[in-house]
Amino acid sequence: MSDQKIDGGKRTWIIASGCAGAVGAGFVAVPFVRSFEPSERARAAGAAVEADISALMPGEKMTVAWRGKPVWVVRRTPAQLAELPKLDKELADPNSERTNFSTTPPYAQNDWRSIKPEYLVVVGICSHLGCSPGDKFTTGPQPSLPDDWEGGFLCPCHGSTFDMSGRVFKDKPAPDNLEVPPHMYLSDSRLLIGEDKKA
Ligand code: FES
Repeated sequence: MSDQKIDGGKRTWIIASGCAGAVGAGFVAVPFVRSFEPSERARAAGAAVEADISALMPGEKMTVAWRGKPVWVVRRTPAQLAELPKLDKELADPNSERTNFSTTPPYAQNDWRSIKPEYLVVVGICSHLGCSPGDKFTTGPQPSLPDDWEGGFLCPCHGSTFDMSGRVFKDKPAPDNLEVPPHMYLSDSRLLIGEDKKA
């Protein structure tokens, strides 16, 4: 019976952290984590934020606030990853060389635009006029998207489309890919957003 209670609590924690963007606070851990959180002023000024990605399942996305911006962490499936190298000819900047909106860190200048292929880390703000693109992870024909859609993001404001690496497709209003923020892994399940140099 006590096992059931523990499982129930764990399940609640996973759901809560997944929905809230998992900034790393479980019910039990709150007092401990709080003492290490940056102040609101430091956070606004750009302090790095830590994210617990252990509850993120393949095909899911979580959002973490950093410098007042939404940072998306997407755990891509093997099928989503397999499509990325095939899209280069359809993309405006497949190798993330442009710098007119943001500069992609060297460790993300690859097809998956990330350190670990499985995990995409991007700022969820369109490089056109700053709208927030929506998730379009389902493949195939659907409104406002091409029939051969392989999953990605659609900006509802003026129709820019991005692949599962946040790379913008050709001939769209958005001039650049989604921004990859500086980031690094503290462990397999802990991501630091806003800093990419080891202390
Ligand atoms: S703001 Fe995204 S397409 Fe215009």
